[in-house]
Parts: sequence; C-alpha cells; structure tokens
Amino acid sequence: MNSNAVLEFLQFVEGQKNQSVRELLDRVLQKSRLMTKAEAGTIFTVRRRGSKRWLEPTSIQNDAIAVRKTDFVVPIGPGSIAGHVGDKGKTVIIDDVYKIRKRAPYSFDPSREHRNYQTQSMFCFALKNYHDEVIGVVQLINCRPRKNSKPMPFSPDVEQLVGPVARVIGHSIERAEMLEQIKNKNRKLRDRNRLLGEQRTHIEALQEETEDAFQLSTQLLARATEIHDEETGNHIIRVNEYSYYIAKVLDQPDVWCDEIRYAAQLHDVGKMSVDAAVLKKKGRLDDDEREEINRHTVYGHQILADSPRLKMGADIALYHHEMWNGGGYPNRIAGDNIPLSARIVQLADIYDALRSERPYKPSFSHARAVKILTKGDDRIAPADHFDPVIVDLFKTKHKEFHRIWNRLKDA
Ligand SMILES: [Fe+2]
Repeated sequence: MNSNAVLEFLQFVEGQKNQSVRELLDRVLQKSRLMTKAEAGTIFTVRRRGSKRWLEPTSIQNDAIAVRKTDFVVPIGPGSIAGHVGDKGKTVIIDDVYKIRKRAPYSFDPSREHRNYQTQSMFCFALKNYHDEVIGVVQLINCRPRKNSKPMPFSPDVEQLVGPVARVIGHSIERAEMLEQIKNKNRKLRDRNRLLGEQRTHIEALQEETEDAFQLSTQLLARATEIHDEETGNHIIRVNEYSYYIAKVLDQPDVWCDEIRYAAQLHDVGKMSVDAAVLKKKGRLDDDEREEINRHTVYGHQILADSPRLKMGADIALYHHEMWNGGGYPNRIAGDNIPLSARIVQLADIYDALRSERPYKPSFSHARAVKILTKGDDRIAPADHFDPVIVDLFKTKHKEFHRIWNRLKDA
C-alpha cells in the first residue's frame, strides 16, 4: 500500500471535523471492511485498570444481520483470537475459524456467534500507538466480494494492504482519545468555574448584607448616645463626612478613609455610660462632675475595644479630647502619640459644635467657626489644641466643611 493510499485512508476516517472517538472508530471499521471486502467486523479498544487489561468492543458492523453493541469483554492473552492479537500485536489471518489447528495459541468460541450468522474467514490485526503499544484490535469477518457469494478466505495480501495504515490509525485514535479526555476535562473545569462564580456571587451578596447590617448597627450604637445628650440630629453623620474629607485630603488609603467615615460617629459613644444626672445638669459643674463627663472617653473605649472592626472607633473615642500640646484628657498624650484618626475627629467635632445651636450658645456662622479654629478665642488656642497639619488643611479647604454642613444640616 503506497503513501497515497494511507493518506486517502486517513482523509476518509478523519473526514469529519470534531468527530468523537466512537465516530472515528466506526469510520475506521467501515473503511477497513471496504478495503478487505469483509462482511462484518468489530473494533475492540484496550481498557486497563492497574496491571489488568482487556478488550471492549467499541464498534460493531455486520452487513448481513442487525447487530447491537454487546457488553461482553475479551481478556487479553491466549485463548480467543482477538485476545491473542491484543496480547502479541501480530496479525492473524484464518481461512476457517471452525478448522483452527489444536496447537494454535487461540481458538474460536462458537457460542459467541450471533444467531443466524456463521463466521468463517477472519482477519485480525492490532492498532498501535506511538510507543508501539496495542491500543485496539480490528477483527474483520467473512471476506465476501459479492453479496450472496460464499465467504472466501482473506487474501494474504490484505496484511500488506492494511498493515501500514494500522499504525497511523492507532495514532489517530490515540490522539482523538486524548482530545476527548482534554475536552471532558475542559468541560468539567468550565462547570467548576461556573459553580465557583455562582458561589462567589452568593458570598459577595452575603458579605454585602453583613456589611449593611454592620453599618446599621454602628449607626444605631452612635445614635444611642444621643438619649442623654444635646448633640442630636445629624451631628454624628456630619462628623463622619468632615473626617472622611480630611482623611481623603491627607491622602490616606481608601480603606482607612472608609473606616473613619463610620468610626468617627462613635466618638461620644461613652456618654451613654456617664451618669445621666451629671450629663443633663444645667449650670456649673464641680470638679467631680467635670471628671465624670470627661470619663466618656474611657467608657467609649471600653464599649468598642473588643471589636476588631471598631478598633479605630475605640481609638477615636479614647483620644478625641487629647490636645496637640498634651493638655487634653484622659491620658494627656501629645503630638503624634495621639492617633491620627482622633486628631482628625477632634477638629471635625469642634467645627460642628461651633456651627450647632446649643442650650448655652447660638449657631455660629461658618466664617466665625473658621476664625475660632484658625486664630483661636478665649477657649480655643489652635496651636495648643490641634495638629498643625490639619489646621493648615482646614485653612485652605474649610469651604468644603461649609458645604457638608449645608448639605446635612438639621431641618
Ligand atoms: Fe467627646
């Protein structure tokens, strides 16, 4: 068989794009039968598990009778004809399967015959892969050049005819099997990725719900402070927004800015632990009463310190009355020892207090609040109170504070 014939054979068996291994085997059997004039035939595929190997029929054709795929398997080894070919890899041509010599390493089992059919001549050859391993066996039955003629022996020439293509076909089948395995793996990977995507979306939705619940709880906690306090309305929301704005201008990381935006409102949360009588007292406070009020910083820290998500809130609660010069409370720490978050909230809280109407004072204009925070008055000395970087920032960016006040001012 020349190379053109091999090419033609290959073109025939691989003529269909994206065909399954099963379709490829059907075409190999069809073409093999056409070339050898075999009336029937079977292709067996080698299956293995561990060291065990057997043949499984994967394509069965018969022009004379209807055949169905059966679930029998053939052990590889001496005994059956296909098992012998699968074991040795050698071609076997038998003129009459009912007249096989007793000494032959294989025999024919008549009980395997289909009803209404009789096997006579047989041509059986192995399909091999790149490593010369047998991956399948083609068994061709009854050479019958013309319909209704008696079966004839296969010509010894058929071995030369089919031999060269057997190897090439073996390669094709192995490649198709690999492609099919890759396709199956890809399909499983795609399914897995889709499932993972769905799970990720679900988790994101749950995280969003949890985050919403957390934000709401934080706000409710901050609001609870207002029960005994004159600082009501949108004060805590505005302090969040001034603080967020300062953090942004200071070029703090996004996640830090987002954190101060909800943590700032917790600055006075400790007031809920302060003696209500002291908190509500009108008129002058004695030293003990003043000390009790000042303790809202420590109480606030105690309330918030256990939650990792509220760590910044706990810092703000504890340190938002400390002063840059160390003259504040409760710990009289100074300068950079005061956490930046608390230094930011300190200025934001005082700006909003100046703008707000209180029982003891009217609402101050933005201009007056700016003057007090940058130049000072009888109660506030900016250089002593505030981080100079934040005061400088306020000097140039104070208009945004006015905008936030207007946007969120109480009705
Ligand atoms: Fe406070």
